[in-house]
Amino acid sequence: EKGGYDYFMLKEIAEQPKAVADTLLGRIDAGGSLTLDEVRIPARELREIDKIVVVACGTAFHAGLIAKYAIEHWTRIPCEVELASEFRYRDPILDPRSLVIAISQSGETMDTLMALRHARDQGSKVLAICNTNGSTIPRESDAVLYTHAGPEVAVASTKAFLTQLVACYLVALYLGQVRGTKWGDEIRAVVRDLARISGEVERVLETMEPVRELARSLADKDTVLFLGRHVGYPVALEGALKLKELAYMHAEGFAAGELKHGPIALIEEDLPVVVVVPSPRGRSVLHDKIVSNIQEIRARGARTIVIAEEGDEAVVPYADHLVRIPATPVLLQPLVATVPLQVFACELATARGNEVDQPRNLAKSVTVE
Ligand code: M6R
Repeated sequence: EKGGYDYFMLKEIAEQPKAVADTLLGRIDAGGSLTLDEVRIPARELREIDKIVVVACGTAFHAGLIAKYAIEHWTRIPCEVELASEFRYRDPILDPRSLVIAISQSGETMDTLMALRHARDQGSKVLAICNTNGSTIPRESDAVLYTHAGPEVAVASTKAFLTQLVACYLVALYLGQVRGTKWGDEIRAVVRDLARISGEVERVLETMEPVRELARSLADKDTVLFLGRHVGYPVALEGALKLKELAYMHAEGFAAGELKHGPIALIEEDLPVVVVVPSPRGRSVLHDKIVSNIQEIRARGARTIVIAEEGDEAVVPYADHLVRIPATPVLLQPLVATVPLQVFACELATARGNEVDQPRNLAKSVTVE
């Protein structure tokens, strides 16, 4: 059932192009508009929403952090993202005009379930983004958008994450469409790009051998740091989480702009630092800033592992290892940038002799609070 792969995780990484395409299936019409029939919340109510709160745990939380950039950009509705385990214990401000989005692969995560129950008690609408048909979280929500990634067996989430991102983009674009924000043209363009993204994920997967080789060469390290900005920041967090749970290594993700506020003190000779570089197009200011960060950490001895778009030549002089990803619209970059980090963590875990599909101390779905 592992389809010829040594681990479910490898199989699930490889399935990502299809998973992403399946999440989009039937949700974009011939004219490039979104048809999310499952979102049974009437358009009139969707137009009245004045606040969105995303609740989730672990990898799904990282998908939520990325969703915030997309939601606020395309809908102009303020969006908060909160760890489900923290959410209800701080008496959050919610009312019937708040939309709560609960993201969960399993649909059984107790922290997320309790957060959504709390939201419904306050009269808020809850939309679940979920991978498991008929599970508890969608059953208790007002509406559900299934991710259609297929069963995910490995404890470390991979294809579920990419499809959660696609579902979040769809929700953000759909809300933008329903509310008629001024980004109409951009929304149509992004929908076209989303339709092509499965092929881009495939291309990334075809070029992963150097990443695996690099991972093996780092098997005796204790620490790896991850840096990113904008949507690359949650990608850095996700890369670090994968490494913790699979390789049992100390791994931390930082927003690159925070380096100078403390973390740069951690940089020492030969410390591996993975940097997710934003597209040089669009928000080029961020790109320039991160290039200076790479220079700064390299000057202090860091071994820089740079994930950058094809054609981004500015990073070349400062990259000890360069991983190329296809150019995508700025907000969609996590769909391609996360893949090398999954492969990296999986290979490092294997090199360290760890059990890839069943890391120690972890369960696939966490049904206790
Ligand atoms: O099933 P859920 O998406 O609700 O699970 C949430 C987290 O427990 C999960 O993403 C966890 O962090 C993964 N093991 C990460 O790879």
